[in-house]
Amino acid sequence: MSGRPAGLAGVRRLGREWREYATVDSTNAEVLRLAAAGAPEGLVVLAERQTHGRGRLGRRWHHLGEAGLAMSVLLRPQISPVHIAQLTLVAGIAVHDALVPLVPSLRLKWPNDLVHQGAKLGGILTEMRAEKRCVRAVVVGIGINLDRPSAGWPEAIGQQATDLASIAGRKVQRRDVAVAIVKALDDAYEEYLQAGFADLRQRWWAAHAATNRWVRVHDGRTYISGIASGLDADGALLLDTGRQTRRILAGEVELAPCP
Ligand code: BTN
Repeated sequence: MSGRPAGLAGVRRLGREWREYATVDSTNAEVLRLAAAGAPEGLVVLAERQTHGRGRLGRRWHHLGEAGLAMSVLLRPQISPVHIAQLTLVAGIAVHDALVPLVPSLRLKWPNDLVHQGAKLGGILTEMRAEKRCVRAVVVGIGINLDRPSAGWPEAIGQQATDLASIAGRKVQRRDVAVAIVKALDDAYEEYLQAGFADLRQRWWAAHAATNRWVRVHDGRTYISGIASGLDADGALLLDTGRQTRRILAGEVELAPCP
């Protein structure tokens, strides 16, 4: 199916072009291909099934059949590539805003996990194409667990997972969730382009699961422990280790007991 869903009337930049697929390798990969072929800002791709869903840090994003939402949105902001991490967090606020009516205690976990009572409800993967210090395309890919998979959670997920239907106590339609996310992303993106990141940064930090709490961060090689003390202007996580404040640019954050 292609064409703007009725629920998107009034949305400024996003969702004018809307494509739904039964199967695709990855909605992010598809948006990047369409972007390279000249697709406009705001293109939304939604798929029932991904054969090669991508997660953060090179991981795989597991397909949950009917129980999953996989969507990607194309942005073409005129910003420097160094600010791209801000945009990742802006997308996190938008997804949080869209889902909080269903999940009032939803939290964000740096950089872009959606968590409910410690269990993962979804995640966001932002990918960028840039050349000569110009951003050409940014794809915001969003995966949400809509329901508990009938065969149970795949073991390979390797962490505690949860889903919208279990939390909200009712089934939610994939398209309705996608429309709510696109609307919220349109608002947050507009605010970012008009007013910058400062206020959005504060909102993000207020929704963070680990604000001022002890965490340990795996940066791919080693664990660093400290108190999550802030977000800097570029979206890096500030970690107070007791000896210094470390800027974390990438990694996996876990809440940790006070050592
Ligand atoms: C994470 O590791 O938590 C981020 C997961 C992002 C998954 C979504 S599903 C839709 C989009 N297409 C992809 O291939 N990945 C993202």
